[in-house]
Amino acid sequence: MAQDDVFKKLVSHCKEYGYVFQSSEIYDGLSAVYDYGQTGVELKNNIKKYWWDSMVLLHENVVGIDSAIFMHPTIWKASGHVDAFNDPLIDNRDSKKRYRADVLIEEHLARYDEKTDKEVQKAAKRFGDRFDEAMFRETSPRILENRRKRDEIHTRFTRALNENNLEELRQIIIDCEIVCPVSGTRNWTEVRQFNLMFSTEMGSTADAAMKVYLRPETAQGIFVNFLNVQKTGRMKIPFGIAQIGKAFRNEIVARQFIFRMREFEQMEMQFFVAPGEELQWFEHWKQFRMKWHRALGFGAEKYRFHDHDKLAHYANAATDVEFEMPFGFREVEGIHSRTDFDLSQHEKYSGKKIHYFDPEQGKSYVPFVVETSIGVDRMFLSILAASYCEETLDGGETRVLLKLPPTLAPVKLAILPLVKKDGLAEKAREMMDNLKFSFACQYDEKDSIGKRYRRQDAIGTPFCATVDHRTLEDNTVTVRHRDSMEQERVSTDSLQRVIAEKTDMKNLLKQLAQHKA
Ligand code: GAP
Repeated sequence: MAQDDVFKKLVSHCKEYGYVFQSSEIYDGLSAVYDYGQTGVELKNNIKKYWWDSMVLLHENVVGIDSAIFMHPTIWKASGHVDAFNDPLIDNRDSKKRYRADVLIEEHLARYDEKTDKEVQKAAKRFGDRFDEAMFRETSPRILENRRKRDEIHTRFTRALNENNLEELRQIIIDCEIVCPVSGTRNWTEVRQFNLMFSTEMGSTADAAMKVYLRPETAQGIFVNFLNVQKTGRMKIPFGIAQIGKAFRNEIVARQFIFRMREFEQMEMQFFVAPGEELQWFEHWKQFRMKWHRALGFGAEKYRFHDHDKLAHYANAATDVEFEMPFGFREVEGIHSRTDFDLSQHEKYSGKKIHYFDPEQGKSYVPFVVETSIGVDRMFLSILAASYCEETLDGGETRVLLKLPPTLAPVKLAILPLVKKDGLAEKAREMMDNLKFSFACQYDEKDSIGKRYRRQDAIGTPFCATVDHRTLEDNTVTVRHRDSMEQERVSTDSLQRVIAEKTDMKNLLKQLAQHKA
């Protein structure tokens, strides 16, 4: 199946099974804003718990906070967001559509790569077994010419971005004859910078109202609480502060479902270290975070690092953890060594001293920071994309299932009476009433047992316990495993222990425990 089709199916599956809904759908929706449904919210909560427990529970020197979304507006001046949190934007005069100038150029560059790939595929067909792809890529005149043109544009593009040269960005669009995908014309406006922060007013009267922003990242709430946490928690460097919360960005090009949203959620941790030790901690957290991703069991090849060549002015190292989405490898997490930039800026703008006295070094300094920052929604999308499967069964029927890690699945156990009569429903209800204290269970008695299994497969429930006539005689149930569809007989007395063992968050956390900060 083409990856485009997989993605479309995933999006409709999310809606059909209560994972994700378009926000305000009955009013025709609100672009790039989504709601999580009854299964989605459980998966999301489990992802957040996995992250929180792995950062805060497992690390004695990492503590959590929950700071407010509204913050003093000067914070965003100090952080650089008021002046520099911008996207270059261009409008097409005919369609009145607005685009990110850099995205238009990136898409144009990607077309050169597609052209090259097509040439390679054609040649592979032509030459069959004798085909040497590496040699073809190095010698084919068409490919070489294609690459030359691409590299030329790419060089101009990166220079324009680095120099913040908006006129040159427009010129590249004109020179490359890039057309508006809607109107098909090249009638472009100038390129302008567009700030991504949402603002609103705080206060009751127009005169006294203060312009405040919806935070575009949760990290600043951590920086401005550094002293509060360090002092009240008697924290010694190195230590970290973790936070999960909403962030808001007025993204111009919002697409690919929940990949790029205007309201989203971040899980961020700032790790404060002594100056000079930041790169060693950067490496440490880089490895830990990759381990966290890989512990989910989707396969190491699904993840890769993308180290940044071009660093923000305040960073001395940065990498992304990328995941192979149906539309290619994309960033799900950023790990940055942010030097002492943020704390120094807040010291400057607030006029308050933000220093740490290091008893071991016998001096005080502004700590350096290593940040790990992951989007909950992107993580959610990556997990669903990796879990979504279609299988053709022996009879030709298609089974759609989500192979979610049992620990993260919204429902751990479905309890299904084979039929409603003969006391089976009552027995199943009794089990449900006992087991619901241990993990998320779902009771279902409607439709044939086959249909009920399919429904549970589709929401990713790892285990189904079927109560049948034998249950009334010997107190055993059939436990069906989602992925293999194998069935085994388990006594009702041990059911709680068997399912708890397989779905406990400890299973994931233990894989990370030996990695100490
Ligand atoms: N404090 C650093 C920071 O915010 P970022 O790379 O801009 O860094 C971190 O964002 C993570 O937040 C990204 O890796 C991504 O997972 C998520 N994220 C950023 N913008 C997003 C958006 N518009 N929609 C969904 N997730 C987003």
